[in-house]
Amino acid sequence: MPNDPIPTPSIEDLEDDPMSTEDNSIFRRRELLRPQHVPQKDRIVGRDGEIETVETLLKPAAFGDPPESGFLFGKTGTGKSLVAKHVTGRARGVAQIQNVDLVAAYVDCDQYNTETRAARKMAFEVRDAIDPEYYIPQEGVGASRYYDTLWNADGLLNEADSLVVILDEIDKLEMDAAEILSKLSRSEEAGKTGCYISVVAISNKTDYTDAPDERVASSFQDDPIVFPPYDANQLEAILERRSDAFVDGVLETGVLPLAAALAARDHGDARRALDILRTAGKLAERDSSESVTEERVRAADEYSDINRSVQVIRNGTPHSRYALFALSYLTKSKLTDSFSTGEVYDVYRVVADVTAGESLSHQRVLDLLKKWTLPEITESRHTGGGKAEGSYRVHRLLHDPDIVMSSCLEDDELQTVLDTLSKHQLS
Ligand SMILES: Nc1ncnc2c1ncn2[C@@H]1O[C@H](COP(=O)(O)OP(=O)(O)O)[C@@H](O)[C@H]1O
Ligand SMILES: [Mg+2]
Repeated sequence: MPNDPIPTPSIEDLEDDPMSTEDNSIFRRRELLRPQHVPQKDRIVGRDGEIETVETLLKPAAFGDPPESGFLFGKTGTGKSLVAKHVTGRARGVAQIQNVDLVAAYVDCDQYNTETRAARKMAFEVRDAIDPEYYIPQEGVGASRYYDTLWNADGLLNEADSLVVILDEIDKLEMDAAEILSKLSRSEEAGKTGCYISVVAISNKTDYTDAPDERVASSFQDDPIVFPPYDANQLEAILERRSDAFVDGVLETGVLPLAAALAARDHGDARRALDILRTAGKLAERDSSESVTEERVRAADEYSDINRSVQVIRNGTPHSRYALFALSYLTKSKLTDSFSTGEVYDVYRVVADVTAGESLSHQRVLDLLKKWTLPEITESRHTGGGKAEGSYRVHRLLHDPDIVMSSCLEDDELQTVLDTLSKHQLS
């Protein structure tokens, strides 16, 4: 290709190119530490009960019988996505042996965050499993068109025995979640196809385990399956069972317990633990070192996203931190996670009065709140409809509210503020 703008050197030229030597003094199987990696059963720690419960839901589908649906709840990094994918994958494997047609679809609602996007993703996943040639429009049509491709007279699911849909991070769908769930359950009830449907819905939003969204919760017969955070020992065991990602002997003693302890600080988050370990390995690689030391683990921890955000927050001006605290407080105590400026302002006034003895105007607080969107601590947008229909700005926190709250205030302020707020019953 004479016009190729990217020239490939000849084999001879590559001989002395340092890039031709694979860099494997630190990592042996780097992919084991990627967050998307779904480990085998013998690498999964402390989730036997949760796995069994999900198995009970899905197992019938592997034998051509109707499966159940389930709702998985828990903070980030507690193994929800992992358990859902792991069990679904095994059920599909058993079904294959049984000659049963079990189709699985995985939809990450954080990425596909409207009903149409999620329905399209579901349709494409099913198409890829059943008939990659089947035509589905990419754009310009609504959610119902995508449901049709599944359940129409000549739809994709006509020949299938069951469909297992994993709707991950379903809390990101906000209002659309109830819509998609009722569509799925109605299609099955209406017997549009002979295909059974199981929905495994997953939510990171733990604060409403006591009062789950009525419409969403009513789609599920059984209680939600709650994933508790890990303790430091479990995190260490998780890291231990992935340590063959590294070349033998490069992990110094003390590295795994330290990474586990650091990840257990906020809430026992396995993603964070693996992230710290992977970054520590990369730092060692960058320094052309042959060992992952405790020092590099600490450096990796500082490096991680969460820590960067904490630094950004600590550097904020006092009233901008009080406003952010107010939003985090609401996020932690309410069912929803987007709040109007007015709602935030009410809580802000209490916080500012307690800590600074004065509060700023509504408009000033709105300006301060908007400043947190740039470093991606929050997100802010207008609600649907035009101004005439009462459109207004809402704010959403993008990080763990506990971490943000403790970064916004000094330790001694924090308790006083929380006590005062609980008296005000603003939550
Ligand atoms: N019990 C566990 N044993 C082994 N690895 C785990 C366990 N729980 C979580 N992980 C790993 O931690 C990371 C985050 O887990 P994930 O299932 O994505 O959490 P969640 O969906 O609850 O946020 C993944 O890489 C996953 O493989
Ligand atoms: Mg997840």
